[in-house]
Amino acid sequence: MKVDVEYLEFMWPMRHFLITCGDIRKGSNIIAVSFCMPVSKRPPLLACAIGRATYSYELITGTKEFVVNVPAAALKAGIYYCGFHSGRDVDKFKETGLTPKPARAVRVAVIDECVAHMECKVEQEIEAGDKSLIVGEVVEAYADEAIVKGEREVDYAKGDFPRKVYGTRFGPA
Ligand SMILES: Cc1cc2nc3c(=O)[nH]c(=O)nc-3n(C[C@H](O)[C@H](O)[C@H](O)COP(=O)(O)O)c2cc1C
Repeated sequence: MKVDVEYLEFMWPMRHFLITCGDIRKGSNIIAVSFCMPVSKRPPLLACAIGRATYSYELITGTKEFVVNVPAAALKAGIYYCGFHSGRDVDKFKETGLTPKPARAVRVAVIDECVAHMECKVEQEIEAGDKSLIVGEVVEAYADEAIVKGEREVDYAKGDFPRKVYGTRFGPA
């Protein structure tokens, strides 16, 4: 017998990413994002679903640039901080202690503690429900040399279905 479920529940576990946005000269923000996927190899495109009510949506659609930073599991506390606070209220770099560094090709900070970085320019926006699918062309992609050479293994940040956030059949949080 099969029973009805929340569709999202069966798409986890998902990798967590930290997306940086905002003009580095004016102020940078970080948003935790799990709805992020590759789209095209040539040209290199990826897509992220970003809530239109977030501060990050405002920054990404304003500058038309963002960076997908890949965190290891050790950064979990920072990921959750960035995922449960808004840059409208707090400076997430300051509060998490993460280090902003200039990017190569965009005016958005990268997170130094992350192991890989995909610098993107917004190519397309598709409104979809409560989010917008932001399609970005990857203009630069780079990672820690030891990982690329296979000398270091990484436990990437990922998580199970966050019942408290998305689940309706689990009762109140
Ligand atoms: C693990 C995790 C994954 C998340 N994934 C997404 C996502 O894919 N898209 C999204 O819009 N929000 C996602 N969120 C929620 C945002 O990170 C959250 O709304 C954040 O506070 C927005 O911050 P901002 O207002 O500074 O942009 C996620 C949160 C967590 C904890």
